Formats: sequence, C-alpha cells, structure tokens
Amino acid sequence: MSSKPRLFSGIQPSANSLQIGNYIGAIVQWKELQASHDAIFCIVDLHAITVQQDPTQLRENTRRTAAQYIAAGIDPAASTLFVQSHVPAHPELAWILNTITGFGEASRMTQFKDKSARQGADSTTVGLFAYPTLMAADILLYQAAVVPVGDDQRQHVELTRDLAGRFNSRFGDTFAIPEARIQRETARIYDLQEPTSKMSKSASSEAGVVWLLDEPTVTAKKIKSAVTDADNDVRFDPESKPGISNLLTIYSVLAGESIASLEAEFGSRGYGNFKTKLADVVVATFAPIRERTLELLADPAELDRVLAGNADRAAEIANRTLATVYDRIGLLHKA
Ligand code: AMP
Ligand code: TRP
Repeated sequence: MSSKPRLFSGIQPSANSLQIGNYIGAIVQWKELQASHDAIFCIVDLHAITVQQDPTQLRENTRRTAAQYIAAGIDPAASTLFVQSHVPAHPELAWILNTITGFGEASRMTQFKDKSARQGADSTTVGLFAYPTLMAADILLYQAAVVPVGDDQRQHVELTRDLAGRFNSRFGDTFAIPEARIQRETARIYDLQEPTSKMSKSASSEAGVVWLLDEPTVTAKKIKSAVTDADNDVRFDPESKPGISNLLTIYSVLAGESIASLEAEFGSRGYGNFKTKLADVVVATFAPIRERTLELLADPAELDRVLAGNADRAAEIANRTLATVYDRIGLLHKA
C-alpha cells in the first residue's frame, strides 16, 4: 500500500471539451498533487445523469473527458482515473448513506435548492436530491484524506464528513474523515468577452471561452479579440481593468512568470503586442494537449482498456470498504 495521503476528486463528463479555466483552476493543481498523493480521479457519469443527458453524447463526453485529463498530464499509471459507473460500489454505498441522511439535512444543500428552483419541482428528480450522498459515497469508499474541489462543493464535503462521523459512531470506526481542499480563488479565469463573469462551459458567447479542443488558429483569434479597456497600459488591476488582468493571470500561470515581471516586460508597449505573445503562450500550452487528446480518441479501444484497468484498481479498494460497511450494518453474508 502507498504511504502517501489519499486524494479523491470527481469530474462531471458534462461537455465535449474542457475550457482553459478548468485547466488553470483545477488540472494544474491536480498535476502538482498527483506526485505527493495517492490520487484517484473519477469521471462521475452517475452524477451527470441527475440532469437530462443525451445517451450518445454522454458516452462520447465520458471518453473525451478522460482523454483530455490524460492528455493534460493526469497519468493513469501513477494516478487512478476511472469512470464512476464502472464501479457499482458507488451507488451501493450511496444507498446505505441515504438511510442515515436526514431529509431536512439533504434539503438544506444549496446546490440542490438552486438547481431545483431553476428547473421547477416537476423536472427535479429524486436523483438530483440524492446527488450529495452519491458524492459522499465516492469519497468515503476510498478513505480519502484530501478532496480538492471548487468552493461550490464545500457544503457537500461538509455533509460527507458529518455522514462519516455519524456512521462511525453508530456502527464503529469505518470511514476516514476527509478534508476539503478548496481551489485557490486567485486562479479564477474570466470570460474573454465578459471579463467580470467566470469562464464557463455554459457561457452565452463562444468567443469568450477558449476550449481545450479549439484549433490553434481559433484559440489565437479568441485571445487577440479579448475585451480590454481603452488605455493601453498592461497593468494588473482587476477592479478597473478586469480584461487585461484576466489575460495577465492566464499568461502568468501558463508561462510560470510573475505578474510583476510581465507588467515590467509589457507595461507601456501596448495591448496588441501583449496579446500576440499571450496567444503564442496559450497555443504552445494547449496545441500539444489537443493533439494528444485527438490521438487518444482515435483509439477508443485502447482508451477503454486503460479506463477498465483503472476501474479494477479502484474497485478493489471500494469493494473492501463496502464489504466492511455491509458487515457492520448487519446485512446477511451470501453463503
Ligand atoms: P466545472 O467545469 O464547473 O465542473 O469545473 C471543474 C473544475 O474546474 C472545478 O474545480 C472548478 O473550480 C474549475 N473551474 C471551472 N471554471 C473555472 C474558471 N473559470 N476558473 C478557474 N477554475 C475553474
Ligand atoms: N460534485 C462535484 C462537482 O460538480 C463532482 C464530484 C462528484 C466530486 N463526486 C465527487 C468532487 C467527489 C469531489 C469528490 O464538481
């Protein structure tokens, strides 16, 4: 067994391409963490179906999501990258957790309240309501110590801790209590056309979102047409210069240069020059990731084989925890 602390995180296969905010806000840190942790990354297709999905697209997006994470540097030999529905222990433990979760407790989850309010009661499903207990099962099956997530998932990790503690005190020590590791606010990337809103897979305008799988010419064009203010000074000031500040953040993370040194280098030489250089940096980062993703997708059988091997590795850990749980709560062993 590895002596490194175990890390677990989940990714929804909710689009056919990631955007560069996902890369800068999440993948960059996951790549750093995978060396020092026993890292498990799960493509949570059973969570994705809590809102309606097209079956053909869901299957395709699941492969594409896996391919992009591998291409971006999540190493499926060092970390465990697998598809949630390949390990039946996830919904099995989720059911058990449902039986120790209060109805009121689940009703207080703000993500459920927001999503169900947006959809209306008639199209809100029991699955959406139970989303957080499935997420708790994901984490607890692996005895994860660390759970890197965005701020919006903090409450779900809190619930996971409560459920783990409740189960342990009722049935004996079974689960490790996980810690959320909230993703740094500073790495928040904004829409290129609307630099006060977060870059998102569900943005209104295509021009504001750089997709990992955009062709390099498209990426360069989007960077060069990013909205910036009228004065021509390359200076970090998110309040009054959100557009250029966002571009400075992207440059700084991708090139590994400090914002101060970028200000010194580009300062008064105008936005055009800065944007051209940034377009080169962005293309240099993402063109190889895009190519590698397309290569992986060109051989779906091999990709599926890697995912199956990783699912077997995950299942071994998960089934051990689930067997202990079944035993503790008094389910009869099958002879
Ligand atoms: P999502 O695509 O919303 O499921 O997000 C997946 C991961 O990417 C989460 O950890 C988010 O916090 C992160 N992420 C998404 N959009 C951005 C963004 N614009 N800036 C920084 N991080 C982001
Ligand atoms: N709910 C998370 C999100 O939307 C995804 C997720 C599912 C997850 N299971 C998880 C994240 C377990 C961390 C750990 O971002």
